[in-house]
Amino acid sequence: MPIAQGANAESWQWQLPAGFPPPLVPADNRMTPAKVAVGERLFFDKRLSIDGSYSCASCHDPGRAFTDGLAVAIGVTGERHARNTPTLINAAYNVSFGWLADAPRTLEDQHRVPLHNTNPLELGYPGIDGLAEDEVVESLASYVRTLIRADSPFDRYVYYGDQAAMSMLAREGLELFLSPRTGCSACHRGFTLSGPVRHQLVPDAEPEFHDGIRTPTLRNVAVTAPYMHDGSIATLEAVIEFYDRGGRGQPLDLSAEEHAALIAFLGSLTDAPFARDDNR
Ligand code: HEC
Ligand code: HEC
Repeated sequence: MPIAQGANAESWQWQLPAGFPPPLVPADNRMTPAKVAVGERLFFDKRLSIDGSYSCASCHDPGRAFTDGLAVAIGVTGERHARNTPTLINAAYNVSFGWLADAPRTLEDQHRVPLHNTNPLELGYPGIDGLAEDEVVESLASYVRTLIRADSPFDRYVYYGDQAAMSMLAREGLELFLSPRTGCSACHRGFTLSGPVRHQLVPDAEPEFHDGIRTPTLRNVAVTAPYMHDGSIATLEAVIEFYDRGGRGQPLDLSAEEHAALIAFLGSLTDAPFARDDNR
């Protein structure tokens, strides 16, 4: 279910899930339902690309929680990007954007990247008649800010007290995830299960990186394979093996059941619109 909806033509009224504070909106890019609607159309508009064949959605496919299923993104001319396409769900709360430490600090700035990047060419933005680039960037940012979702089994269990929403195994996985033994939640934390966030209650937060890489959100992770900034790990099973072997510190010495529990927990983070039986 879409959570954010406009109340009238003048201003934006957030309708947020339980546990989610209102995102920051820059003073010079106030949201209106009209602007968000323009941004949504532009997101799918192939006029944004050099040969009319590509849009934001070519890489950020809404059916895959706004990712592309590829190890690394492929630009409009077929060139490989150095990095994996991240989800846009809950990006409104990010302190920095993209995977790396030198990445943009606002959604508006982030959106100029695919328009103009030449290494590789992502969209090769040719300009749209009658629409200034600032309008394009600001409308897109207004739309992307509305991509807030929290209707996963995890949310129903944690925020709505629905004990049956998460299986026993997934609940064991949650406990393990929160335990000092795995240390997962030291980095993947808070309502986004990511690095630091900022919002209207906590407007200032420093970005955080581990070996130069931002801690990604784990929401919807079951439908956003392959994993890591370079797409180097194909499955969640292999990600858990990586951590178990000591990929990020001490080996964890997890049992087979504990592997399964962590994977069940990660699976409980999939929002209803993206959930599917085959988890392709
Ligand atoms: C060629 C594929 C491709 C296209 C086209 C593309 N993106 Fe991206 N997007 C990426 C990749 C790859 C990253 C990660 C970049 C990095 O880490 O340097 C990214 C990052 C982002 C982020 C940051 C998300 C986060 O959590 O930090 C946002 C927001 C975003 N893109 C929005 C858009 C919008 C809006 C458009 C259309 C104007 C667009 N993208 C077009 C591949 C693409
Ligand atoms: C020290 C901080 C830290 C700890 C502890 C940590 N992670 Fe991560 N996690 C990261 C970072 C940083 C990345 C991205 C690494 C990269 O792209 O190379 C990541 C990536 C992931 C991914 C892939 C997400 C994606 O979209 O590609 C999963 C899944 C994951 N972690 C789960 C876990 C689990 C489960 C644990 C505990 C066993 C854990 N993490 C512990 C920082 C951490």
